[in-house]
Amino acid sequence: MPQETEAAVKPFLEVLSGRKQPSPPIWMMRQAGRYLPEYREVRAKAGGFLDLCFTPEFAAEVTLQPIRRFAFDAAIIFSDILVVPYALGRAVRFEVGEGPRLDPLDTPEKIATLEPRADLGKLEPVFEALRLVRRELDPKIALIGFCGAPWTVATYMVAGQGTPDQAPARLMAYRHPEAFAGIIDALVDNSIDYLLGQLAAGADVLQIFDTWAGVLPPREFLRWSVEPTSRIVEGVRAKVPDAKIIGFPRGAGALLPAYVDATGVNAVSIDWAAEPTMIREKVQKRVAVQGNLDPLVLIAGGAALDRAIDDVLASYAGGRLIFNLGHGIQPETPIAHVEQMIRRVRAYRG
Ligand code: CP3
Repeated sequence: MPQETEAAVKPFLEVLSGRKQPSPPIWMMRQAGRYLPEYREVRAKAGGFLDLCFTPEFAAEVTLQPIRRFAFDAAIIFSDILVVPYALGRAVRFEVGEGPRLDPLDTPEKIATLEPRADLGKLEPVFEALRLVRRELDPKIALIGFCGAPWTVATYMVAGQGTPDQAPARLMAYRHPEAFAGIIDALVDNSIDYLLGQLAAGADVLQIFDTWAGVLPPREFLRWSVEPTSRIVEGVRAKVPDAKIIGFPRGAGALLPAYVDATGVNAVSIDWAAEPTMIREKVQKRVAVQGNLDPLVLIAGGAALDRAIDDVLASYAGGRLIFNLGHGIQPETPIAHVEQMIRRVRAYRG
């Protein structure tokens, strides 16, 4: 590791380590993506989406694009949560305009054929991309590695595609809980190894994306979101005891404090529907929070955007806050609105 990397203070990591910053560090989920012309250019050169993810030079380049343009406090490695099913030997494709397609694991018999161990060699290009980014990145900027939470990844593996309500996975979990647990267990074990590989390749912090946590009733939420995520956190910390981990159980609502308690994450990403008093009292007193601007107000811009930014700051900047969106930035977002947001957040002193 280069000397300056160890010496430089990263404001993002300071917040995760318990030290609130006067101006909250800022980055955006999906900050590398189609709203940027320079991303669209590399994406066209790479061919398919997975070719982009698995060509280290391209993945490193698009990871760095939003850093060069906006000087965010964190870079997130460009990849996708579905590279883990790919490493488990599942067919994964991305159809233009349609999103991901996998061979569905829609019966217990098919689930029984799932390999328990992934071929992590298939993910070596992601590790290489992390090393390339690490070399280029200003030492004050944090590098985020990530994986999908087992529940969210399983929703795609069972349905074979994105679904509006994740009904195929929910039904599988009710009808055949043991078979479904087989998918979850394979994802837990291999996600631990994948995250440890990302730390070894230079990631400073890890985020676990549970985009579809909010569709589960409390009992199922504890079983399929909280419990597997806890095992991942524990598995990573068994090898790297001080690993910094951010959880994103989107839509967890009133169950967020239980998630924080049980998983032991250092921070949670919150969506824009979160209720500030509850978050401040039951979540932010214990861990840092990350969020939670509505990505649609970033499309709208103007006075509505300023007001929404001020609301996030007024709600959370008195404690440990990493400013972010409540979910990923959308492709139609004007770049000028992102600049407006960054100026306003950077001007804040609390
Ligand atoms: O945040 C970043 O900049 C890092 C890159 C990143 C991507 N996907 C790139 C991507 C991250 C962190 C993800 C995570 C991811 N992938 C999640 C969890 C977070 C979330 O946003 O909810 C999920 C559910 C996926 C699965 C996935 N990948 C879907 C449903 C789609 C299609 C939808 C879409 O936006 O097109 C993808 C494709 C994808 N992953 C794109 C990007 C930039 C768009 C593909 C393209 O450029 O053509």
